[in-house]
Amino acid sequence: MAKSLKIKVRSYREEDREEASKVAYKAFNNILDAKWATWGLSGCEKVLVAEVDEKVVGVVELESFWFKDKLHGYIYYIFVDPIWQRQGIGSTLLREAEFYFKGREAKYLWATTGKSNFKVRKFFEKNNYKNVEPKELRKRYSRREFKYLLWHLYYWSEDVIYLKKLE
Ligand SMILES: CC(C)(COP(=O)(O)OP(=O)(O)OC[C@H]1O[C@@H](n2cnc3c(N)ncnc32)[C@H](O)[C@@H]1OP(=O)(O)O)[C@@H](O)C(=O)NCCC(=O)NCCS
Repeated sequence: MAKSLKIKVRSYREEDREEASKVAYKAFNNILDAKWATWGLSGCEKVLVAEVDEKVVGVVELESFWFKDKLHGYIYYIFVDPIWQRQGIGSTLLREAEFYFKGREAKYLWATTGKSNFKVRKFFEKNNYKNVEPKELRKRYSRREFKYLLWHLYYWSEDVIYLKKLE
């Protein structure tokens, strides 16, 4: 039987920077994503790291914004060292991110990824995030609200949008 991992999630500290940035460069094929994810370590409003045996193996970077009088959370980047993937670390980070936003009384948590990034799409769907079509959002909101929302989601036309209602 596979041994279950001891994953510890805690807040990011500035001294984690080098280790966390290395994880980003290993996790992303795209150097731009690795660069922005490294920027997010100190640029995002809240960052959580996952440790195994006191080593940083995964990171989630979080932002929030007010929309229609409610606080909304956004997953800016989530990444796990490839040799530690598929062992529940990403899902653990996501659960802790949800817990953090619930503590702030946020009602929704959003995420975006590339349409063709099937692995990440599967990851969000497995964690009960619902794929929302931009045209659905456009019907629900005014043009101005729609633009404001997409701007906070860093949305561009090749993206898919995921949403989870925080109970
Ligand atoms: C997305 C990511 C964070 C997931 O981390 P992880 O620790 O591997 O995730 P988990 O082990 O919790 O996986 C949960 C579920 O997601 C899905 N999933 C994860 N990796 C997958 C893969 N390579 N192929 C298919 N499904 C996958 C599976 O349904 C998995 O459940 P299962 O293992 O029981 O089948 C990780 O793959 C990663 O760092 N990717 C590169 C960075 C990136 O693109 N981040 C997202 C954009 S910000």
